[in-house]
Amino acid sequence: MAPLVFLLGLLMAGVVHAGEATTSRVSQPVIEAARGGACVADPAFMRRNHMTLLKHQRDDTLRGGMRTGAYSLKTCIDCHASKTTNSVAASDTNFCQSCHTYAAVKLDCFECHSNKPQVKP
Ligand code: HEC
Ligand code: HEC
Ligand code: HEC
Repeated sequence: MAPLVFLLGLLMAGVVHAGEATTSRVSQPVIEAARGGACVADPAFMRRNHMTLLKHQRDDTLRGGMRTGAYSLKTCIDCHASKTTNSVAASDTNFCQSCHTYAAVKLDCFECHSNKPQVKP
């Protein structure tokens, strides 16, 4: 099953980028820009490590009862929600969806967590 899902992901990435004029032969994910401010850590670091940070924050909250943390999922969404859909995961260019579609990673987070900011800025 896993190899099939991976293959489908590759095929989808090919379809999504098929119409684009590219300078590189390797297609890149289209990622919408943040609303502003500075990320909770260096973006290059975040690109590699956000999954670990989010999981640690979740474990601290659920087991330790810690409600305020630098890596709260809500804060990510406040900055990274799309200006057009107001969501991080409503379309394939929306922030949390963009790379994951490209990399064929499927998240279940937004079945429970809201993908939209609490307050519309
Ligand atoms: C079955 C429902 C469910 C799913 C699926 C789920 N969560 Fe949660 N999560 C919760 C609940 C309930 C809490 C506790 C909420 C609170 O105390 O604020 C929580 C808390 C968190 C927190 C700490 C509080 C915060 O807002 O930062 C983080 C981070 C988090 N989850 C990340 C994730 C990520 C990342 C995923 C996907 C990989 C995920 N969760 C999937 C239910 C879920
Ligand atoms: C105060 C606003 C703000 C908050 C809060 C924030 N970010 Fe960011 N983030 C940014 C900015 C600005 C960038 C630089 C790229 C851009 O402009 O979109 C960035 C970059 C990133 C990148 C790299 C994207 C790329 O193009 O390679 C990742 C991954 C990321 N953030 C994840 C997160 C996660 C996960 C959280 C929550 C734990 C979070 N961010 C919280 C503003 C924020
Ligand atoms: C710059 C690209 C990029 C962006 C933007 C991005 N991710 Fe990821 N994410 C990845 C990649 C690539 C993986 C798979 C890493 C691996 O397999 O080790 C991943 C994996 C994850 C995982 C672990 C999934 C699992 O099943 O273990 C979580 C949780 C996650 N991302 C949450 C988020 C959230 C929430 C956002 C939006 C705030 C986000 N990501 C934005 C690239 C990105």
